[in-house]
Amino acid sequence: MGVEIRSTLWKQSSEEIAQLGLEKRARIVHDDMFEVDVGPATVVTLYQRTAVNDRLRPLLEKRLRPGARVVSVDFQIPDWTPTKVVRVRSENGNEYKLFLYVRP
Ligand SMILES: C[S@@+](CC[C@H](N)C(=O)[O-])C[C@H]1O[C@@H](n2cnc3c(N)ncnc32)[C@H](O)[C@@H]1O
Repeated sequence: MGVEIRSTLWKQSSEEIAQLGLEKRARIVHDDMFEVDVGPATVVTLYQRTAVNDRLRPLLEKRLRPGARVVSVDFQIPDWTPTKVVRVRSENGNEYKLFLYVRP
């Protein structure tokens, strides 16, 4: 499940999921990520700036279950220590840094 607040991006990403025939495996909800219940999640991926991650941190600490993993693209989550940091290259040649965190 993905969360996107901007209507155009929500529509675009939902259409891409349909074009790829992935409707049974993926969906995007049109919502504010601060309002979404992350409690059932085993893995959360984020691509937000550090300041936004900092605002999300209390919610993740409160709601995520022990052992849940959080992968943040390019930006760290302040005050959390990553279990692993890896650099990856996408198919189009862009490089990203991934920070993996495991909730205690
Ligand atoms: C850097 S882009 C990430 C794009 C893509 N989801 C990815 O992971 O590659 C950040 C996205 O977060 C969305 N966003 C920002 N604040 C949000 C919020 N409060 N709730 C949901 N989506 C939000 C933005 O509209 C933007 O599309």
